[in-house]
Amino acid sequence: MSMRSHYCGELRGGHAGQAVRLCGWVNGVRDHGGVVFIDLRDREGMVQLVCNPESADVFAAAEKVRAEYVLRASGTLRVRPQGTANPDLPTGEVEVVAETLEILSAAIDLPFHQGENAGEELRLQYRYLDLRRPEMLSRLRLRHQVFAAIRSFLDQRGFVDVETPLLTRATPEGARDFLSPARSRPGRFYALPQSPQLFKQLLMMSGLDRYYQIARCFRDEDLRADRQPEFTQLDVELSFVDEDEVTGLMEALVREVFAKVLDVELPDPFPRMTYAEAMLRYASDAPDLRNPLELAELGDALRDAEFKVFSAPANDAGSRVAALKIPGGADLTRRELDELTQFVQAMGAKGMAWIKAADPSKGREGMQSPILKFLGDAEIAAVASETGVAAGDLLLFGAGPAAIVNRALAALRDRLGRERNLIAPGWAPLWVTDFPAFEFDEDEKRWKALHHPFTAPSAAAPGKLLEQPGAALSRAYDMVLNGHEIGGGSVRIHQREMQAAVFQLLGLSAEEANEKFGFFLKALDYGVPPHGGIAFGLDRWVMLMAEAESIREVIAFPKTQSGACPLTGAPAAVDARQLRELGIRPI
Ligand code: AMO
Ligand code: AMP
Repeated sequence: MSMRSHYCGELRGGHAGQAVRLCGWVNGVRDHGGVVFIDLRDREGMVQLVCNPESADVFAAAEKVRAEYVLRASGTLRVRPQGTANPDLPTGEVEVVAETLEILSAAIDLPFHQGENAGEELRLQYRYLDLRRPEMLSRLRLRHQVFAAIRSFLDQRGFVDVETPLLTRATPEGARDFLSPARSRPGRFYALPQSPQLFKQLLMMSGLDRYYQIARCFRDEDLRADRQPEFTQLDVELSFVDEDEVTGLMEALVREVFAKVLDVELPDPFPRMTYAEAMLRYASDAPDLRNPLELAELGDALRDAEFKVFSAPANDAGSRVAALKIPGGADLTRRELDELTQFVQAMGAKGMAWIKAADPSKGREGMQSPILKFLGDAEIAAVASETGVAAGDLLLFGAGPAAIVNRALAALRDRLGRERNLIAPGWAPLWVTDFPAFEFDEDEKRWKALHHPFTAPSAAAPGKLLEQPGAALSRAYDMVLNGHEIGGGSVRIHQREMQAAVFQLLGLSAEEANEKFGFFLKALDYGVPPHGGIAFGLDRWVMLMAEAESIREVIAFPKTQSGACPLTGAPAAVDARQLRELGIRPI
């Protein structure tokens, strides 16, 4: 006979009269002088056990139990007496009158209690207790459902799940590598993969045609709410496809997962936007389209302004002047505006000019701002018409180097959208396309690939690319959901000459390219299908579906912001002998 007949949480009125055997944790005990009530919990929920003194053994055991003890109980399920049902509990109509009660395992005093707002460090240190919370268990189960729906969709379409190595060479996603010393070759290291990028391309060259993998990736980079040093990708690659085929199939996948798991219908097709348009209207390449706030470009309107704060960047190619319009925002106080100014200054902005519009039809007289005195009537009129400012609106200006202005205005847009409750409920998926292939890194004085160096540029010929790298767009696409980049991919380079030109542009000499990626370049000589693919950040995707604040909430055993694991104490010291074996001197 198995230990239990039912999960605690599945019992309903329809089971009344049945003999049940249950196992679970004690969620709470109430001693009602003479009768002890125990809430017994398992992964499906909890049910009330009634322990009467007439059953002496049951009662003696019940008097010993404390929170989080593990029990086995048997008894008869009955409908609760009139007036004692608990409408807050799915099992609230019934209870089990215990006939046997056995303590399988005791628990000492807990470091925190269910429902208590424990700090994250403590939650991670005792993750097994934290995960017992129904909210956490349901997140893990949601994650599983997403993975299962993904696998089923891809399996039905001929994708083959292939594992790729974790002990490998450095891969090209541009973050710092995690390294693992090779004992058998002192002084040499394996790198943990930042993604399976090169292996999945090699699988296309192997003739696999359609590959996927739910793959762990490792990147040693600064951590944030949506970044972990080790995270999970849905990695996909297909042969003989163009970008439309990949994006079409992948958005169908996302639609199916949302429909199956959340019963949510996403748009068909997903909206698309070029990178240029996204930057122009939202100052971000991952805009949250649920947020109605938009920017107006004011370079033309302010090119001849006397106010150098505006005219200087308006006349500089790498700079930008733009304004974010906040409908109804003229109610912001001076103090709130000062606070927002400090907020953008912390991001490197020099300031945040603003204009409140009481009645824009009156021109200068209808506006209020310390900068009006620096602007001519024609400029004020141009700003009003470019922004479409209406009575009661507020304009917030960013002027200066484009990267700084974009960062500041995008952050203002997010913050004010949230604080003023402008974010529409629901889901806003978006493809962002036509990225620049390369950007010039002013600090390092060299070109860098905006995605990775295996992304195909749309330039037809390698020569053309080298002449005008800044003009080249890439055949890349990002999938954005509610302002988060949840996936990114591209059509790949499949011709050796183009790959060599890209390495040359990125400043890799032929020797360096050969040393790092020679194995891959060699493969390009042996017959390569045109191919392309994508990788989704599954932690981010599930975080959004779970409406969680951080990807740590949807990972069973995540790391803290500083990359540590409070549960195991990793990263941990190792003993000197182990280091010696690896040929590493202790510090
Ligand atoms: P990319 O580097 O854009 O592309 O990664 C794909 C997706 O992975 C997620 N992601 C992360 N999630 C959590 N923590 C991190 N540190 C982290 N870094 C990235 C993001 C991102 O969109 N090989 C290419 C894909 C391809 O070209 O097919 C790649 O890895 O959601
Ligand atoms: P100043 O001339 O520095 O006193 O600035 C006048 C106004 O312009 C103030 O409101 C500043 O916050 C604002 N301002 C200054 N520099 C910038 C900038 N780079 N972008 C937007 N506003 C700015």
